[in-house]
Amino acid sequence: MARLAWVTSRARHSWLTSQAQQCWLNTRRHYHPNGDPPRILITGSLGQLGTGLAKLLRGKYGTQNVIMSDIVKPTKDIVNSGPYVFADILDFKCLQEIVVTYRIDWLVHFSALLSAIGEQNVPLAIRVNIEGLHNVMELSKQYNLRVFVPSTIGAFGPDSPRNPTPNLTIQRPRTIYGVSKVHAELLGEYYHHRFGLDFRCLRFPGVISADTMPGGGTTDYAVQVFHDAIEGREFECYLRPTTRLPMMYIDDCLRSLWEMLVAPEEKLKRRTYNVTAMSFSPEEIVSAVRKHFPDLKATYKPDSRQNIADTWPEIFDDNEARWDWGWQHHYDLEAMCEIMFTLLQQQQQMESVSGR
Ligand SMILES: NC(=O)c1ccc[n+]([C@@H]2O[C@H](COP(=O)([O-])OP(=O)(O)OC[C@H]3O[C@@H](n4cnc5c(N)ncnc54)[C@H](O)[C@@H]3O)[C@@H](O)[C@H]2O)c1
Repeated sequence: MARLAWVTSRARHSWLTSQAQQCWLNTRRHYHPNGDPPRILITGSLGQLGTGLAKLLRGKYGTQNVIMSDIVKPTKDIVNSGPYVFADILDFKCLQEIVVTYRIDWLVHFSALLSAIGEQNVPLAIRVNIEGLHNVMELSKQYNLRVFVPSTIGAFGPDSPRNPTPNLTIQRPRTIYGVSKVHAELLGEYYHHRFGLDFRCLRFPGVISADTMPGGGTTDYAVQVFHDAIEGREFECYLRPTTRLPMMYIDDCLRSLWEMLVAPEEKLKRRTYNVTAMSFSPEEIVSAVRKHFPDLKATYKPDSRQNIADTWPEIFDDNEARWDWGWQHHYDLEAMCEIMFTLLQQQQQMESVSGR
């Protein structure tokens, strides 16, 4: 009797274990039929979005399966966190070598010059954002990679409806950044229809994060305000107080990216989707921040970035992403302020303990 109970319990245990293993495999089996996790290359991974994405994907697929790359010298922390390689997006052979050596399956293409920086150096923006993308498309076609390229609210312009801006509408941007992103959307969709390339693209709004600084976009003020508040500085905004733009907290942004990467083919009615979480103006974020730091002083001195913001969407319509593959944001303005201050205060405490 006791033996029977032991055998039953062993069988039950092994059944449970195999169920758990199956469940584990199912969550990881987004690519290989044999259950191997995908091997992923991230270009431009030392910018605002790349470090967080590498962490998220390494948590899901294993540290060694996610290769970070950039042209920037990495910190010790980055090198210790997992594989990191030099990759200039303009060097096709170098990219080929990485794809072959690391047996890459998916490519997340982050390298870019953002809106404000792009306007300061148009020839370089054309090279990095357009020639670089050509390399990525050819490489992905040649090695049959699934490729994700982020687009942006900057892919719209003054002729687009701004409130709300639907998924499919007129796109006549007036920045080289926007032009290069429309080019990326169209070329990716062309490669998909012509060659069967598994191209996936999300148009992100301004992204707000605590641990990495933004790389020269028009929405950077929405990160700066948190740093100024916590360090007791006056916040000088380069946009008018009423300029409304769509925004997203980084965790939502990276989760949307991953959900788009693993969305089943049959759910994707499009290859390019709008995603967003909230829309606010500088005066609205300032009053949300003042709930935590009532003494924050704000002044407004619009510069050339105002001209860019004036042509961008105010409210971004992401209903198609919500209907087709179930996109849902978790952070609104209030929740984002909470998490930003919690994280920035933790960083401040760690810096004061380490004497920095
Ligand atoms: N951050 C946002 O608010 C936002 C919003 C919409 C879309 N996006 C898109 O997401 C992507 C990542 O954005 P981010 O904010 O991390 O940008 P970022 O400017 O912070 O980082 C871009 C990275 O590209 C790298 N790079 C530049 N030239 C390169 C080259 N020749 N070869 C390889 N790498 C090169 C830079 O070193 C940098 O680390 C970009 O394509 C951007 O257009 C970002």
